[in-house]
Amino acid sequence: MSDKPIRISREAARRHTEDMTGKNIVITGATAGVGKETAKSLAKMGANIYFATRNPDKTRDTIAEIRAGLTNGSVLEHKPLDLNDLDSVRQFPSLFGDNDHIDVLINNAGVAHETGVTKQGIERIFGINYLGHFLLTMRLMPHLQRAKGRIISVSSMGHSSARREHFDGPFHGPCENIHPQVLYGRSKAAQILFTKALQRRLDQNGRSCAAASLHPGAVRTRIFDTYGVVSKAFILMLWPIMVDVPEGARTSVYLATRDRPEESGGKYFYYGMFRKGIYEKPGTALVNDEALSEQLWKQSEELVGEEFAVG
Ligand SMILES: NC(=O)c1ccc[n+]([C@@H]2O[C@H](COP(=O)([O-])OP(=O)(O)OC[C@H]3O[C@@H](n4cnc5c(N)ncnc54)[C@H](OP(=O)(O)O)[C@@H]3O)[C@@H](O)[C@H]2O)c1
Repeated sequence: MSDKPIRISREAARRHTEDMTGKNIVITGATAGVGKETAKSLAKMGANIYFATRNPDKTRDTIAEIRAGLTNGSVLEHKPLDLNDLDSVRQFPSLFGDNDHIDVLINNAGVAHETGVTKQGIERIFGINYLGHFLLTMRLMPHLQRAKGRIISVSSMGHSSARREHFDGPFHGPCENIHPQVLYGRSKAAQILFTKALQRRLDQNGRSCAAASLHPGAVRTRIFDTYGVVSKAFILMLWPIMVDVPEGARTSVYLATRDRPEESGGKYFYYGMFRKGIYEKPGTALVNDEALSEQLWKQSEELVGEEFAVG
């Protein structure tokens, strides 16, 4: 496989709808950074945005801020979700009607170097960034399939820090002997592996939905607040050349609105920091390891205690 990135041309990037009126979009982590900006852009296009977020006050303020800039009648609604707790994820679909549909799910929420474990004792970065989103996606699959929907997972170029051996575990406990950047890399590689495994299952069943993953660029957000001193110093050096938040939202917005979403199926995209623009790229050898993606699928089912058939 060639590792050469393919730039999405300006002409191709224009092949998207500007009118998202009536589309139902669920965005995790929409109270800050890339997720908030993605919500704002899609709401301006008329989409109904469901804020899958954990902090009611922050969500209320975010919704008020976005509402103030709108001239359309988009629905902006809070649907509580804490990815740190699988019970909260399990309850989430019941916040929608049985026959409701979701056009786009954007698995955007993420933490960088947080330590500790989730409510169920899973290593925290893996639990929030990946496992919670795995369960959320699979539990929302009926809603997504009703709309031939899109599943967009905000991963990271940081997936290149993942190491193969950590996919054999441990997944429980704080994993204090592994550097947080390696744990972050594992969680972000897991999102890409999941996207590919999910798309294979969808394809076997008539490709009813399209799943894609992305790196939003190195974006000036608060996610780096949890970095240690040395990592923070490195980010401070990069800060002037990092992309601003509206640019950071571009790839998510493009994948949510592009024509022919099936062409994104199973693929990984990224936003270039030096040569600005959206690119399609294979990602590392590890995230293209099909056997590993199938292993991860089984492990994820075991960790959440449920098996999922994509019908
Ligand atoms: N910034 C970058 O350079 C960069 C680069 C590559 C990839 N990414 C990825 O882009 C995504 C967005 O990052 P960002 O930079 O915009 O970060 P951010 O500004 O720190 O925003 C993170 C969002 O995730 C939410 N979140 C954290 N823990 C959560 C939990 N347990 N349950 C529900 N929501 C939770 C936060 O909610 P609260 O407001 O409640 O805290 C916040 O809305 C992440 O997946 C990140 O890994 C970012």
